[in-house]
Amino acid sequence: MVKSENNNGAGNRPIRARRSVLYVPANNKRALEKAADLACDSVIFDLEDAVGPDDKEPARQALRDWFAQARSTDKEYVIRVNALSGAWGRDDIGAACACEPAAILLPKVYGAGDIVAAQALLKERNASPDLRLWAMMETPRAIADALAIADTGLGPEARLDCLVAGTNDLAKETGVAVPDGRRFMTSWLMQIVLAARAAGLDALDGVYNNFRDTEGFRAECDEARQMGFDGKTLIHPSQIDPANTAFGVSPRLVEDAKQIADAFARPENKGKGVISLNGRMVERLHLEQAQRLLKKAAMQRNEGTGR
Ligand code: COA
Ligand code: MG
Repeated sequence: MVKSENNNGAGNRPIRARRSVLYVPANNKRALEKAADLACDSVIFDLEDAVGPDDKEPARQALRDWFAQARSTDKEYVIRVNALSGAWGRDDIGAACACEPAAILLPKVYGAGDIVAAQALLKERNASPDLRLWAMMETPRAIADALAIADTGLGPEARLDCLVAGTNDLAKETGVAVPDGRRFMTSWLMQIVLAARAAGLDALDGVYNNFRDTEGFRAECDEARQMGFDGKTLIHPSQIDPANTAFGVSPRLVEDAKQIADAFARPENKGKGVISLNGRMVERLHLEQAQRLLKKAAMQRNEGTGR
């Protein structure tokens, strides 16, 4: 825990842009064909809820075929498996290990034990340490135990990188009403963000089901950004651009970060903990924030090939 707090919550993980993270049903041929060329930062190929029981094996095979082809490397590819406790999970893990995605997304996580069990299974299968884990936060117990789950990302064998809000399952499991917006769910979402930050993980917001409602989607992205989420999970390509805008680093923020970095680099400010910049107090923690933001902005600029 101390490790990540000393790093201002960033941990030792490489910084990635995860503004727009699109679910692609693994059994949808047309969607698979499109996935590599879309402008999202990450793709989650879904073997779980988007794929019916009779389609599980064909969907696994479709992913093996997809990953066997040459593909653009500017994106992060993730596979969502079925729960390891169920009938399909272990076969999904086998297929995912063969595909070598950046990460496996575990659904229906109930507690830290689920992450530990997945790590043990990956070790047993000699999976590369580069194969990371993401966790769906979509059961009441996961929200209640969010910190313990996030903390599994801190050990030497840790693979956990990212917490993903599963708002549809949370609504189903709790009976919470989502009549106009997510006000009754907000504290649970904030708990996900808080736990992720405590362990230096990323946090992604849940999906917006009504994919033809662009205005509503933008509003929810803005809200999620203000709540501290790194990005949003998406269900439709039309949601990619608005998410990239909402969670992207704006030119104004880049300029501000540069000014902070330049100011601390001046000889007269060397060794100072706090300085005054344009009538504002700026501390070294702001310098760390600025440096992180500049790295993220640089990543965003480097993206865009093949879109
Ligand atoms: N990934 C990649 N491409 C997608 C896509 C996705 N998630 N959703 C739609 N597309 C493509 C379609 O194939 C279509 O391509 P084309 O016009 O080049 O042939 C185009 O985008 C327009 O699609 P549209 O007709 O507007 O939507 P649809 O009716 O085909 O699909 C959904 C609507 C909701 C069924 C579909 O978007 C979907 O399956 N989303 C993901 C659902 C999911 O994974 N859920 C589990 C996690 S919550
Ligand atoms: Mg779910």
